[in-house]
Amino acid sequence: MSFTAAVSQWRDRVDQNLEHYLESAEIARQLFDAMSYSTFNGGKRLRPVLVYAACEALGGNPAAADPVAAAVECIHAYSLIHDDLPAMDDDDLRRGKPTCHIAFDEATAILAGDALQTLAFEILSRPSDYLDPARQMAIVQTLALASGDKGMVAGQMIDTVAAGSQLNLSALERMHGLKTGALIRASVRMGALASGGATEEQLLALDRYADAIGLAFQVQDDILDVEGDTRVLGKQQGADIALDKPTYPSLLGMEVAKVKAAELHQAALSALSEFDDKAILLRQLADYVVERDH
Ligand code: IPE
Ligand code: IPE
Ligand code: MG
Ligand code: MG
Ligand code: MG
Repeated sequence: MSFTAAVSQWRDRVDQNLEHYLESAEIARQLFDAMSYSTFNGGKRLRPVLVYAACEALGGNPAAADPVAAAVECIHAYSLIHDDLPAMDDDDLRRGKPTCHIAFDEATAILAGDALQTLAFEILSRPSDYLDPARQMAIVQTLALASGDKGMVAGQMIDTVAAGSQLNLSALERMHGLKTGALIRASVRMGALASGGATEEQLLALDRYADAIGLAFQVQDDILDVEGDTRVLGKQQGADIALDKPTYPSLLGMEVAKVKAAELHQAALSALSEFDDKAILLRQLADYVVERDH
């Protein structure tokens, strides 16, 4: 199967599951509309695809990964809604459409983000035919740690405080590792946990893979903010520059940022050296992260 076909198969699968999980949110119409708007508006679904790819690399059953893939996308969708708010990055465009607070209003956007975050954990805590409670608990803990004050939210706080100043390289990498890397690492680790077949050594190798692609993903995001095209990106090119955000290109220059992305790509592939052909999608995703144009 080609890379494109594999990715679109997993994307369709997570979309179907998300539709099912979101149905129960229909109690307050406006909340449901905002949650759906920000979940089904053309995201790349990188994190769910990573969950399935890690599960597949270890020979797991994708049915065990279904709730995990949906849950991590709910956290991601929530993080983007809040990231775009006027108090944060103040962006009007996301995935080629008005951001949630523009399409609805700020209060609705805040609440839709809150509800998507909670929904993620509700999905993970539902009884499962494929995951025993201990494994479910390990997955819940992994997602919680990656999302909150020890992960993504901490990175967003550092990002917000750092706007208008420059960080040194280790502080920049730490911020990127938290705001973007933590959820990417959790996606890979939760896919491995859902497979039920990971050795401690394999988990550590997958952590090294995920840390490399997680940082590469944000380096590429920073590069695209400078070199991308708003129509292709689906978000405003130059948004980081406008807010004077510390980024890889702003700290090190574009050439060094690109070298860094290439090095991280190689590090990700090396981390998978002991894995067999079942890790093909993980390897292709490492290529995709640094080659993508949006
Ligand atoms: C955007 O993430 C936010 C970052 C962490 C850089 P994605 O580029 O994965 O966003 P979508 O889901 O595809 O729109
Ligand atoms: C956002 O980083 C990371 C999270 C949402 C946690 P950015 O602010 O760089 O993402 P974009 O560029 O708006 O997608
Ligand atoms: Mg931001
Ligand atoms: Mg932003
Ligand atoms: Mg960005």
